[in-house]
Amino acid sequence: MAARRQRRVLSVASECAPLIKTGGLADVVGALPAALEPLGWRSRILMPAYPGLLERVGRTRRLWRTDDLFGGPACVRACRYADLDLLLLDAPHLYERDGGPYVVDGHDHHDNHVRFAALSWVGARLAIEGTSDRWRPDVVHAHDWQAGLVPSYLKYAGASTPSLLTIHNIAFQGVFGPDQLDRLQLPTWDFHPDALEYHGLVSTLKAGMVHASRVSTVSPSYAEELTSAEFGFGLQGVVAMRRDRGELHGILNGIDTRVWDPATDPVIINYSADFPEPKAANRRALLEEFSLAEPSGPLAVVVTRLTHQKGVDLLLEKLPTFIESGGAVVVLGSGDPGYEYALGELAARYPQSVGLHIGYDEPLSHRMYAGADLVLVPSRFEPCGLTQLIGLRYGAVPLVAATGGLRDTVIDANPENLAQGTATGFTFGDIDPGGLGFALGRAVDLYADTEAWSRLRSQALRAPVDWGTSAAHYVALFTELLG
Ligand code: ADP
Ligand code: GLC
Repeated sequence: MAARRQRRVLSVASECAPLIKTGGLADVVGALPAALEPLGWRSRILMPAYPGLLERVGRTRRLWRTDDLFGGPACVRACRYADLDLLLLDAPHLYERDGGPYVVDGHDHHDNHVRFAALSWVGARLAIEGTSDRWRPDVVHAHDWQAGLVPSYLKYAGASTPSLLTIHNIAFQGVFGPDQLDRLQLPTWDFHPDALEYHGLVSTLKAGMVHASRVSTVSPSYAEELTSAEFGFGLQGVVAMRRDRGELHGILNGIDTRVWDPATDPVIINYSADFPEPKAANRRALLEEFSLAEPSGPLAVVVTRLTHQKGVDLLLEKLPTFIESGGAVVVLGSGDPGYEYALGELAARYPQSVGLHIGYDEPLSHRMYAGADLVLVPSRFEPCGLTQLIGLRYGAVPLVAATGGLRDTVIDANPENLAQGTATGFTFGDIDPGGLGFALGRAVDLYADTEAWSRLRSQALRAPVDWGTSAAHYVALFTELLG
């Protein structure tokens, strides 16, 4: 029997773990290829060659080039890195600069619209022309506003390659003025509310949502929420239009269970669902690392961007009560300077009970998940959320707001679920200080019952968080797109 031809997907994204990461988008882009591969889909990931990346990946092969990519020469360099097939867009005039992928000194790079339109334009060219090693994708998978223009460029070129746009966070929409259309090779005739226009401006996310063959987001609940004014951030009408045509999909994220594995994680004392005892040593180590006193209650962690979305203000309001009732907390994050300052004050007020690290630190995050009893995720909205999944995997019981992907992945420890042995964490529906405070109180109470807590932790450790089912959903969708 002839072997089935392996299918090809070009994933276009602005970040990819482990090479460059500012949040969950990178985790997803970096983890999907290994999950799709056994199902017959081979991925290549197109992303910018940010400063230092070419040195890190080592030898590359040049597969495509142009003399003028929106103002300078550019080429695509292929390499294999961390088991990923990467296509790095080498365009120094766009990417060779100080700061992170999007921001320098707290401000967006002034030309982000050009930088990521260029990424999208090249994504579309590769899909149309293929690369010099004769690779052409069957499907293009564009992620978020940074790759939102890929489907549009495909459409304007008359290309037939099907595309999927995945929305990881609708709050970021890639907005710029229509005076830039010409420069970005976008047609002014399509600048109207049914296509590129968004309240007199251009939105790359909206463009992708209109032009992609299909639109997906990263959890079923968020897909539903996105059609409401509260969660749709102005784009709810476009979401509803795609939903009504049966072209909107909610596919839950997983995590890379090879990277996130308490049984093999090199930076912790290893343990597993069947042998959870060494988790206690990780807890002690974390307390020691932050010079905290042994709490009588649970040790909670927060690993997050410090933004309004993540409910940091709710934490600031309710952590004092949690601490006074016996809890302790370690926070790792960076973001809004106001939150950074307020967290600093909290740590100064409770030096024995609050540990704080402002910054981004991957190994520390592993040690925190391993040491924690609880992971707190009080987000106002959360497309999927990965920290609660990592929490489950590490037996750090998630305590989450019941929204988006958080609602889809955590089963509340109410009496019924506890009795049935299905509970994996704590959820709260009123996303306000009262709701969070009540949930924290429930966690403190349950923690006092050692046996009940150990059962809950055991359920968390055994909860499915891998890509299995969701990868199959993506494959079913890609296959459908091929007709
Ligand atoms: P988002 O993408 O909205 O920031 P997610 O929960 O989807 O939220 O993903 C966040 C990812 O980034 C997780 O892998 C989390 O561990 C990681 N992360 C967030 N902040 C930090 C930090 N300060 N240091 C290390 N890792 C972090
Ligand atoms: C976004 C969302 C987060 C999601 C991640 C990966 O950053 O805020 O909820 O988990 O993308 O899809």
